[in-house]
Amino acid sequence: MSNKLWGGRFHGQAADWVDDFGASIHLDYQLAAEDIEGSIAHATMLAKQGILTEEELEQIIAGLNEIREEILAQTFEVSVKNEDIHLNIEAKLTELIGPVAGKLHTARSRNDQVATDFHLWLKHRLPAVKEKIQGLQEALVNLAEDNVETLMPGYTHLQHAQPISYGHYLLAYFDMLERDYERFTFNEKHTDLMPLGAAALAGTTFPIDRSFVADELGFGQLYHNSLDAVSDRDFALEFLANAAILMAHLSRMAEEMILWTSFEFNYLELSDSFSTGSSIMPQKKNADFAELSRGKTGGVYGHLMGLLTVMKGLPLAYNKDMQEDKAGVFDSFETIMNVLQVFTGMIATMTVKKGNMRAALKGDYSNATELADYLVKKGMPFRQAHAVVGSLVYQGIEAGLPLEDMPLEELQKASELIDEEVYQVLKPETAVNARTSFGGTAMKNVEKELQRAQAILQAK
Ligand code: ARG
Repeated sequence: MSNKLWGGRFHGQAADWVDDFGASIHLDYQLAAEDIEGSIAHATMLAKQGILTEEELEQIIAGLNEIREEILAQTFEVSVKNEDIHLNIEAKLTELIGPVAGKLHTARSRNDQVATDFHLWLKHRLPAVKEKIQGLQEALVNLAEDNVETLMPGYTHLQHAQPISYGHYLLAYFDMLERDYERFTFNEKHTDLMPLGAAALAGTTFPIDRSFVADELGFGQLYHNSLDAVSDRDFALEFLANAAILMAHLSRMAEEMILWTSFEFNYLELSDSFSTGSSIMPQKKNADFAELSRGKTGGVYGHLMGLLTVMKGLPLAYNKDMQEDKAGVFDSFETIMNVLQVFTGMIATMTVKKGNMRAALKGDYSNATELADYLVKKGMPFRQAHAVVGSLVYQGIEAGLPLEDMPLEELQKASELIDEEVYQVLKPETAVNARTSFGGTAMKNVEKELQRAQAILQAK
């Protein structure tokens, strides 16, 4: 017989390298705490149902607690011979308490066991992800408070478009992160489903009490279908999709930080603690951590595509392919936690060069829409106003004269509707404050949205 826990029907031994190939212990070691928690709940239920005696339960719990101590003390030794964390713990339990350890697996399969551990693992960690998102939202709100009146060019196609409040820009990211927060909250719902009790795939003949186990473990719901319970990885896919979208947001912000700390833009300066120098060029101050965050986005996207591809085409129920579900989730969790922390620090400590942002609006023609709107309000059709202002812009560029510096007679040559008050209209402050439409960048709107953001944070 093979020396495996499942070795009854085997006569030969697997080669060592085959054991290595099949094992997942290097990864699922991370599930150790959840595995023990799940086993204690399962054993407690078995005893309550009269499937184990109280004495057997005590022995099993004592053994599992001892293993937990070893894991905490980092003295727990594992082997690829025992494939994964579940079998390593069971093997150790057998070593500690003898054959009664074998009763723990009554009415359970590794298929529902691993799914339960994985759900628990994520369920325990989603609140921390949400907390980190909230931390970054707080940093954005704090900075926005200081920058409602900071004006800068708003961009489309990375060309100066119209002036905006920098506070408005920061709150855009607040709202993006709020949706991320909501997505992870939704993710909690599908992570809160307990697979245990589905056994291998079809349920069990033992009189188990799944609701009791769910209560013990803090799960709100049970999977209603045993096949679904052991073959569902939607909760992991949702996590990866949410992480990918979050990373897309952070990567966009990273890109702006990298651009805006460049010599050409010079809108921001990162603190020394969140930037790096060059080993050869003494003047360099690089936005390394923003770049690295942007780069790590690729890995998280890859994990999402990886698991989607693992799951596609898998017949119900469990297939060993599904062992590949954990690496990406573990790695993405670590990545988003770190990246969120880095962004929170970068934002809280960077210097906003308000004067440079404001100066970038000088002579950039980002007030051209103001002039067109001004003409429209005086009765000119918008398309005609667009053309009139377009030719003024052309003229201005040729002469090196921004709209706000053109003499009134010049402007009036383009349209008699223009008078002295136009110079007020052409100021970036006027342009921003005129955008009072719901969601627009007017400072009083930004003030209001800032209050809403603060209220959202306080309610969490
Ligand atoms: N290590 C496996 C995994 O992570 C555990 C489940 C194995 N079940 C089985 N029937 N081989 O998916």
